[in-house]
Amino acid sequence: MPNAKIMGTGYYVPEHVLDNKFFESLNPLNIYGYNDEILKTINTSDSIIRQMMGIKERRMASNNRLMVELGIREKYLDIPDQNTADMGAEAAKEAIKDAGLSAENIDGIIVSTMTNLIGFPSAAAQIQEKIGAINACECYDVAAACAGYCLNLDIIMSRMQTNPGIYLAIAAEHMTSIVDYKGANSALFGDGAGAAVIGPSQSDKGLLFSYNLSDPFGGKLMYIYKNSENKLRMPEGNKVMLNAVKKMYECTEKVMQKAGWSKNDVDLYLPHQANIRIIDTLGAKFFHDYDKERKNENSRKIYCNIDRYGNISAACCAVALAEAREKEIIKDGSKVILTAIGSGLQTSSIAIQF
Ligand SMILES: CC(C)(COP(=O)(O)OP(=O)(O)OC[C@H]1O[C@@H](n2cnc3c(N)ncnc32)[C@H](O)[C@@H]1OP(=O)(O)O)[C@@H](O)C(=O)NCCC(=O)NCCS
Repeated sequence: MPNAKIMGTGYYVPEHVLDNKFFESLNPLNIYGYNDEILKTINTSDSIIRQMMGIKERRMASNNRLMVELGIREKYLDIPDQNTADMGAEAAKEAIKDAGLSAENIDGIIVSTMTNLIGFPSAAAQIQEKIGAINACECYDVAAACAGYCLNLDIIMSRMQTNPGIYLAIAAEHMTSIVDYKGANSALFGDGAGAAVIGPSQSDKGLLFSYNLSDPFGGKLMYIYKNSENKLRMPEGNKVMLNAVKKMYECTEKVMQKAGWSKNDVDLYLPHQANIRIIDTLGAKFFHDYDKERKNENSRKIYCNIDRYGNISAACCAVALAEAREKEIIKDGSKVILTAIGSGLQTSSIAIQF
């Protein structure tokens, strides 16, 4: 039975940078409870956003109507709007190039997304058409919110046993189209996409083990949801943070046990980029010498790009993986763990040996 090996990776983030000053311009903002009840009206600022979320800027896909509405652009520009599949296709092209293949070589495309706003056709089918993957015979989306990319890789790991071939695992998210710009959470999210080409391999390296947890109980089902106006709501942000640390830690430990790796064996941890406070708390649980400024080796093992991209939901892990390979932080032989949590609450981890 072949293993599933990562042959190439790529990512795409839109050109438009949305800095924290923009969110200051939206003041005052609301903090919502359930059923859109306004709990509090607050003012935000660059320094509060950096402190509370660890974000300096995020990217925004081109959206003429929204950008004019928000005062980002004065008028419609001659730049076409971008959707989730446009971003996913750009990331896919990079990954295919990195693998030294062409779109005709792709047998299957799986896209993790919760922002394929047209609903159907799937983002995967749209990407297949955009990149010209004429031989792909299974193209579908995985809707597991922020945990979607780990599950995507998990599915391909299994698929490699039952239908070996060359798969594209993509995560693409258009979060700026579902956030509520009247709400305090809007500064958390950004847009982007990441992709990996995965093929069969006889070596013992590749996607090795996964560990997943689903817990909608005790009210957690509604910790993160989309309301009837298609706006993202997170009425229990603080409880999400507590669960994120607890469950991502648990899943990471479990997948390490399955792989037979100790904490020190792992070369790079790629946690979901949900909030810098979650990433730092996880880091401190893993390494007693963890340092927020990343001044020592153990601290640098916890990958972090939330300052530049914000939370891109499922695309966080996909972009981080591609970026870490591009920067040669991940090299041949690296042991890597991806872990993410999102709406559901669904938590997933995967262990990869390069
Ligand atoms: C959204 C989030 C940043 C809010 O942080 P928090 O520490 O939970 O903040 P709270 O809602 O408890 O509010 C703390 C204080 O900050 C204020 N505040 C909250 N958001 C603010 C904002 N954007 N700007 C300014 N002040 C804000 C609140 O009014 C409150 O003030 P008070 O102490 O005077 O009452 C945080 O909950 C979070 O990141 N949650 C997890 C996100 C996540 O993991 N998502 C994963 C799935 S997508």
